[in-house]
Amino acid sequence: MIRLFAPCPKLIPLLAIFIISCSLPLAISDDTDTDREALLCFKSQISDPNGALSSWTNTSQNFCNWQGVSCNNTQTQLRVMALNVSSKGLGGSIPPCIGNLSSIASLDLSSNAFLGKIPSELGRLGQISYLNLSINSLEGRIPDELSSCSNLQVLGLWNNSLQGEIPPSLTQCTHLQQVILYNNKLEGRIPTGFGTLRELKTLDLSNNALTGDIPPLLGSSPSFVYVDLGGNQLTGRIPEFLANSSSLQVLRLMQNSLTGEIPAALFNSSTLTTIYLNRNNLAGSIPPVTAIAAPIQFLSLTQNKLTGGIPPTLGNLSSLVRLSLAANNLVGSIPESLSKIPALERLILTYNNLSGPVPESIFNISSLRYLEMANNSLIGRLPQDIGNRLPNLQSLILSTIQLNGPIPASLANMTKLEMIYLVATGLTGAMSQKSHPMDGLPLLLPQAPRS
Ligand SMILES: *[C@@H]1O[C@H](CO)[C@@H](O)[C@H](O)[C@H]1NC(C)=O
Ligand SMILES: *[C@@H]1O[C@H](CO)[C@@H](O)[C@H](O)[C@H]1NC(C)=O
Ligand SMILES: *[C@@H]1O[C@H](CO)[C@@H](O)[C@H](O)[C@H]1NC(C)=O
Ligand SMILES: *[C@@H]1O[C@H](CO)[C@@H](O)[C@H](O)[C@H]1NC(C)=O
Ligand SMILES: *[C@@H]1O[C@H](CO)[C@@H](O)[C@H](O)[C@H]1NC(C)=O
Ligand SMILES: *[C@@H]1O[C@H](CO)[C@@H](O)[C@H](O)[C@H]1NC(C)=O
Ligand SMILES: *[C@@H]1O[C@H](CO)[C@@H](O)[C@H](O)[C@H]1NC(C)=O
Ligand SMILES: *[C@@H]1O[C@H](CO)[C@@H](O)[C@H](O)[C@H]1NC(C)=O
Ligand SMILES: *[C@@H]1O[C@H](CO)[C@@H](O)[C@H](O)[C@H]1NC(C)=O
Ligand SMILES: *[C@@H]1O[C@H](CO)[C@@H](O)[C@H](O)[C@H]1NC(C)=O
Ligand SMILES: *[C@@H]1O[C@H](CO)[C@@H](O)[C@H](O)[C@H]1NC(C)=O
Ligand SMILES: *[C@@H]1O[C@H](CO)[C@@H](O)[C@H](O)[C@H]1NC(C)=O
Repeated sequence: MIRLFAPCPKLIPLLAIFIISCSLPLAISDDTDTDREALLCFKSQISDPNGALSSWTNTSQNFCNWQGVSCNNTQTQLRVMALNVSSKGLGGSIPPCIGNLSSIASLDLSSNAFLGKIPSELGRLGQISYLNLSINSLEGRIPDELSSCSNLQVLGLWNNSLQGEIPPSLTQCTHLQQVILYNNKLEGRIPTGFGTLRELKTLDLSNNALTGDIPPLLGSSPSFVYVDLGGNQLTGRIPEFLANSSSLQVLRLMQNSLTGEIPAALFNSSTLTTIYLNRNNLAGSIPPVTAIAAPIQFLSLTQNKLTGGIPPTLGNLSSLVRLSLAANNLVGSIPESLSKIPALERLILTYNNLSGPVPESIFNISSLRYLEMANNSLIGRLPQDIGNRLPNLQSLILSTIQLNGPIPASLANMTKLEMIYLVATGLTGAMSQKSHPMDGLPLLLPQAPRS
């Protein structure tokens, strides 16, 4: 959140009286008039079914009191510094006359029903640092002219229907800190210049139709904290700079067509908390964890082409909450070290070639909510008191694991269970007689492995 604006000065009512009574436009400059006209023009060209802008009237001189308008008074003139009409039910096209608010630093038109194109006149707003047009129905391309906004720090255009390429010229705005363009229909390559923006913290381009490689220099900026490029058609490898970043906390690259190996540096990071690489074509083996105290909480490598074993060093990820390695070609046994993870909630290993015994200590991770290891060549023994050891379990999917023995009566104590699948495990006997929350629960595997 940026706070750029002081409230309208108390002086203004006084000033207004002065203006009206004396007709002496002391504080009214040409620029002030232009701002007022631009606001009235804006209102006249949009639809405002709820009358949200009813305070914007012809007869009211003091536009600084109009709903959503914030001013800044220099010694000689009143200028619009911010316009915030977020969530006001406004519609129609964004009028080009908005480009006449030449002092504006913050423009928030988000969460309305604006449609049509983004007017290129926005490029005339040389002072603007915050532009939010998210959650509207805007179409067409992102105008090249936005690159003239040399003070732009925050650009939010998500949840629209924007098309075409992201203009490479946008990366001339060297002060960009947040670029949030997800849920649009953007195509083409990610401009390489995003890799060289030194102040960029957040880049979210997810759920578009972007192609090509991830810019090789992305992550080289010392400010970089959050990147989400998921749900595109990106190819090539995960860039080294991204993996080596010493500031990155969230890395979301899922649902693309990335290839190559998982860079070992990801597991030597002291900043990453979230790594989502699921649904790509990554190959090779899972690198060992070499970081001393890695803060990783969420790790999903589901649905890739990974081979080799599960590195026992994954058990050193003591902050881990979700671990999903499903639908790869992993072999070997489940390392006992995984049960050292103190707050693990999801352990998803379905659809691999894992073999050997399931470590009994796995059934001691009392924080577990999802335990899914089906469709491997594992053997194991289900503890009779599993229902008391894993009281939080919502999903227990162990089909094809050779378990044998009787179905534990303690399952009846798993009151949060929503899904259980024990087909072809060799377990015998019936479920507990007493009415159980899992009666009538779905017994099918989920369509796609969990991430
Ligand atoms: C008001 O405008 C002046 C000149 O444009 C600028 O220097 C100052 O930072 C602004 N003040 C605020 C609170 O935005
Ligand atoms: C409103 O302003 C326009 C010019 O900006 C003028 O033509 C019109 O007469 C004004 N209406 C009223 C009610 O003042
Ligand atoms: C605009 O106003 C809404 C509340 O109506 C607020 O949540 C939002 O943060 C404001 N935008 C800016 C840029 O301050
Ligand atoms: C912007 O203001 C100028 C006068 O300063 C005016 O001629 C022009 O029509 C305005 N543009 C728009 C799009 O309203
Ligand atoms: C833009 O506006 C939306 C909705 O008002 C808000 O959730 C979001 O945080 C704002 N900022 C950006 C950069 O999108
Ligand atoms: C954004 O769009 C998605 C679908 O594209 C929708 O599910 C979501 O609710 C939208 N978010 C907001 C805040 O409107
Ligand atoms: C990334 O780190 C590895 C060592 O972990 C190093 O070999 C490599 O040169 C680094 N790459 C870049 C681009 O910094
Ligand atoms: C891990 O990072 C540290 C610095 O944080 C570095 O000294 C060490 O060489 C790295 N280890 C590997 C295996 O890259
Ligand atoms: C990480 O885990 C491995 C195997 O579980 C163990 O041998 C090693 O000492 C651990 N390293 C650190 C730094 O905790
Ligand atoms: C994994 O098992 C499947 C059959 O279950 C087999 O087709 C595949 O070759 C095995 N892959 C590896 C890497 O062992
Ligand atoms: C599981 O926990 C119980 C009770 O704390 C303990 O007695 C048992 O040894 C543990 N089992 C394993 C395999 O760690
Ligand atoms: C269910 O839990 C209760 C209370 O912890 C315990 O007394 C009972 O023996 C448990 N039932 C089974 C079948 O383990």
